[in-house]
Amino acid sequence: MSRLSMFSVLFFQTRLYAAQAARKVEFTGAAEHVKFQPQDVQVTRLPSGLVIASMENYSPASKIGVFIKAGCRYETPENQGVTHLLRLASNLFLSCSLCSYLDICMLVFLCSVSSSRENMIYTVDCLRDDIDTVMEYLINVTTAQEFRPWEVSDLTPRVKMDKAMAAQSDQIGVIEGLHGAAYKNALCNSLYCPNHMVGNIQSEDLHQFVQNNFTSARMALVGLGVDHTVLKQVGEQFLNIRSGAGSTGATSQYRGGEPKLPSTNLMVHAAVVSQSAAAGSSEALAFSVLQHLLGAGLHVKRGSCASSKLVQGVTKATADPFDVSAFNASYSDSGLFGVYTISQAAVAGDVIKAALAQVKAVADGGVTAADLTRAKAQLKGHFLMSLETSEGFLEAMGTQALAEGTYCSPEEISKKIDNVSLTDVANAAKKFVSGKKTMASSGNLSKTPFVDEI
Ligand SMILES: *[C@@H]1O[C@H](CO)[C@@H](O)[C@H](O)[C@H]1NC(C)=O
Ligand SMILES: *[C@@H]1O[C@H](CO)[C@@H](O)[C@H](O)[C@H]1NC(C)=O
Ligand SMILES: *[C@@H]1O[C@H](CO)[C@@H](O)[C@H](O)[C@H]1NC(C)=O
Ligand SMILES: *[C@@H]1O[C@H](CO)[C@@H](O)[C@H](O)[C@H]1NC(C)=O
Ligand SMILES: *[C@@H]1O[C@H](CO)[C@@H](O)[C@H](O)[C@H]1NC(C)=O
Repeated sequence: MSRLSMFSVLFFQTRLYAAQAARKVEFTGAAEHVKFQPQDVQVTRLPSGLVIASMENYSPASKIGVFIKAGCRYETPENQGVTHLLRLASNLFLSCSLCSYLDICMLVFLCSVSSSRENMIYTVDCLRDDIDTVMEYLINVTTAQEFRPWEVSDLTPRVKMDKAMAAQSDQIGVIEGLHGAAYKNALCNSLYCPNHMVGNIQSEDLHQFVQNNFTSARMALVGLGVDHTVLKQVGEQFLNIRSGAGSTGATSQYRGGEPKLPSTNLMVHAAVVSQSAAAGSSEALAFSVLQHLLGAGLHVKRGSCASSKLVQGVTKATADPFDVSAFNASYSDSGLFGVYTISQAAVAGDVIKAALAQVKAVADGGVTAADLTRAKAQLKGHFLMSLETSEGFLEAMGTQALAEGTYCSPEEISKKIDNVSLTDVANAAKKFVSGKKTMASSGNLSKTPFVDEI
């Protein structure tokens, strides 16, 4: 990308944000005599298996995404790291091809390619008027990328830089280590290319992975601020290249383990988890309520979250600065639940034990109806807030469309949350307490206990 086009991207990004802000004002002004009520989310599954989901909100800006069940869990031992390269290659290709187009005809857009353990996600923001062109690029990048051999070898320094940046984060290290030890297969794969594969993934590996995993039945085309019929036509015409059921891949097997990542860092990061439940199950929802009951999200300031049971418990155990949060990760066939602590090296054991004691207290029935009501309200608030941004909304719509072929409205999800009982939450806590543990820790581990000591 030339410096000039890099500048144009930034310039036009600013313009797009400005346009969005202007629209917001306009809409607020018109709110009393609403002309265009946003429609409901519409979902269609095409004969090819491709799921189309969209919501028309009559915004002048559109957001389009292609979600594919092709996250790192689908890598095999032979191509480990291929999704990391794919993420980088697609990002480059999408931004460069759109940029060169932008130089000619001043297209305004934002694009990104990201991947999780489950999915690969391509998204583009653009003005509604440009949607046809942008969609063509988006579809080209997901179905017809060339991966020329020299381009693939040019990715190696980028892979190294990504890895070096990730290595600076204790949290990424702990979470990757946690998955690597918790599972025997699939979910054990890392989001980052393993060292032994850096420079060893060829153009052919990328082609094969796309060929075998980017099938219509494992894709969802989703849009916000776009007409459902238009999106359906695009899906029918251009995204049915590789139809067929598409294999589902191996089910993850939980194993448990104890990875240690010693470093000179004075703060110890530690996560202690058990296997929880697969996403979308009512049990997973009980774990989500439990997470909010214990305290979700790391807090910057100590004592900033008075209602967090974990913070309350750990405050009694140490006078040193710490941070603690309930940890929850959910996947299509499994999940992890537990506690995440950050503490001074000398008190790591005390902090971890105090946090675990709080989960045990919940398992033993130490939860009041008021605690439960508050946790549910927090979970609902958190969920609704995540839908406020167009990114959050598109992600929720895309992941649900891909996983279940449907869209569950916030009202329906709220009802399901209300349905979680004290017993459900206590049972979730019991499952954690009695479950086989995985514990990952990093930092100065001289005073960090082993699993059999906690
Ligand atoms: C998309 O790919 C097709 C076939 O390779 C090509 O003809 C077309 O020009 C591409 N479109 C864009 C916008 O790059
Ligand atoms: C994904 O692609 C890889 C590499 O070609 C292949 O071995 C694997 O079976 C594919 N996964 C599924 C679930 O089809
Ligand atoms: C926790 O679990 C719920 C599903 O019950 C899920 O929606 C949420 O994203 C999970 N949080 C994380 C960090 O994975
Ligand atoms: C690790 O922490 C212990 C306990 O606080 C301390 O005695 C020791 O000097 C630390 N080691 C390093 C290398 O900082
Ligand atoms: C509420 O929970 C009960 C049992 O816990 C279940 O049978 C029922 O289907 C649930 N209702 C909803 C709306 O989820």
